[in-house]
Amino acid sequence: MRKNIVAGNWKMNLNAEQTRALISELASVQLPENTRVLVAPPFVNLSAALEAAAHSSVEVMAQNMHQAESGAYTGEVSASMLTHLGVKTVVLGHSERRSYFGETDALLAQKVQTALNHHMEVVFCFGEELAERENNTHFEVVASQLKNALFALPASTWSSIVLAYEPVWAIGTGLTASSAQAQEMHAFIRQTIAEAYSASLAQEVSILYGGSVKANNAAELFGQPDVDGGLIGGASLVAADFKGIIDGLR
Ligand code: PGA
Repeated sequence: MRKNIVAGNWKMNLNAEQTRALISELASVQLPENTRVLVAPPFVNLSAALEAAAHSSVEVMAQNMHQAESGAYTGEVSASMLTHLGVKTVVLGHSERRSYFGETDALLAQKVQTALNHHMEVVFCFGEELAERENNTHFEVVASQLKNALFALPASTWSSIVLAYEPVWAIGTGLTASSAQAQEMHAFIRQTIAEAYSASLAQEVSILYGGSVKANNAAELFGQPDVDGGLIGGASLVAADFKGIIDGLR
């Protein structure tokens, strides 16, 4: 059975001390069955986060990773550096990586492959921009992002893939997709995976929604049959708000 997941993307926020403090607050939350909570601090705070999360059900993931094994890539971090620390999951393809750092589907396909080679789990982000929704190409765009970055993978690797559909127009804007818009797209994503692989594989993939999820809209979004939780930015930085969103899974 696929898992329900609430994942916090902390982006370029919090120092090591603040990271520890926030994780300690989250560590006390009793999670419902079949549920996971993950947080993604910046690289420099991963060790502090792992320490603070030890012996709790909070899992720590990285926000990004380089596709090469090692070498002359100043400022970058490799998969083996992450796994050596104890990080088992990496977020790839976030819209900010795509738009500010030029990450393409082709590059992301390489990053995903590298992560899987290192037995890491991938939270793969994708989603259309506002203009694409307005000109009604959002389904096409999402299908091509999935196909270009993921559909060359063998079926056996999909147990290590979590999807995060994040319409770019809803990220950090306060504009949330309605629960009907989210459900419509998530059902489409599941159908697209079923066609590329199989219905049973599609049923096993957790598909998260991201984009201005807050404590007051989480339950409605997560209550949709194909929405298996959320990837949360701003609201994951405040313990009470993040806990309220986790409550949305109950
Ligand atoms: P937001 O960010 O919740 O602040 O909209 C979501 C994300 O970027 O993953």
